[in-house]
Amino acid sequence: MRGGARSGAGVTPRGAPRRHLLSIEDLDRPDLERVLDLTDSFAEVSRRRIPRVPALRGKTVVWLFYEDSTRTRLSFEAAAKQLSADTVNFSVGSSSVNKGESVRDTVQTIGAMGIDAIVVRHSCAGVPHRVAEWIDASVVNAGDGRHEHPTQALLDLYTARTRLGGLDGARVAIVGDIRHSRVARSDVLAFTAMGAEVVLVAPGPLLPASLEGWPVAVTHDFDSVLGDIDVCYLLRMQLEREAGASVPSLREFRSEYGLDAARADRLGADALIMHPGPMNRGVEIDGDVADRPNAVITEQVANGVAVRMAVLFLLLGSGMDLAEGARTVAG
Ligand code: CP
Repeated sequence: MRGGARSGAGVTPRGAPRRHLLSIEDLDRPDLERVLDLTDSFAEVSRRRIPRVPALRGKTVVWLFYEDSTRTRLSFEAAAKQLSADTVNFSVGSSSVNKGESVRDTVQTIGAMGIDAIVVRHSCAGVPHRVAEWIDASVVNAGDGRHEHPTQALLDLYTARTRLGGLDGARVAIVGDIRHSRVARSDVLAFTAMGAEVVLVAPGPLLPASLEGWPVAVTHDFDSVLGDIDVCYLLRMQLEREAGASVPSLREFRSEYGLDAARADRLGADALIMHPGPMNRGVEIDGDVADRPNAVITEQVANGVAVRMAVLFLLLGSGMDLAEGARTVAG
């Protein structure tokens, strides 16, 4: 077992532990730009015939997902493999979690095996922060409850910046189930840090109880913003988190807040349609709209690999927290 705190451990100015990616809040605009710039290099690696570099040879990354995932888990795995890291997939469903083992005991057991990074998803907000206190390894938040999903925000920034050519002054509408969404919170922090203007579009019951401190405008009228936005970001209705109970019916939600063909036709010619996935086709987005050329949903997924390569490299290749690592790599 690797004992003791590593050099470089400590806290960021906002109090988050170093060597981890726990929240977009810990990154300022120059940090974000450097992560995105480094992502360009790894996107080039991903496009190679043999997409593999030895950057993290000898490092071990573990996935600890207490919630289901397709995109995040697989793209982290692809990212780690392309960086030549060893990967260990911890399957909660077939583990001693089923015998009642606590998160802390599980994490410390995994840590005792000598790992370098752990990628954590949990339904409770704050679990990745606790994991960072319990283990001597880098921790990446892969989604914690309704709180944050920082790597989703990074790949969203990267996709929008690449397509739009820049984010300063970009107008971003985030639409739908904001109340239950960790993506919404991370994306608001990320897009506004990059100089974009964000408007939240949702019925009252699907907005957070308090928006104090959120640097956003709010409207309940989706149609009023359609002609005025550069990014139309649809959120999944989180039916497993009771989002369906917050609207009279899914049919009514779709009629007022769903992106159907008529609404998509009113978007600007260059406006992007984005969605973090998985989609509820026919609820927040119609199936044919999701397949239009300006819908960049699969491009978001593809960019997720390069973004996560940048994140793992910054954390493990440099041994620093993400912001420090980004500054060092960028020179
Ligand atoms: N966007 C996202 O987090 O998707 P998964 O739940 O499939 O990882």
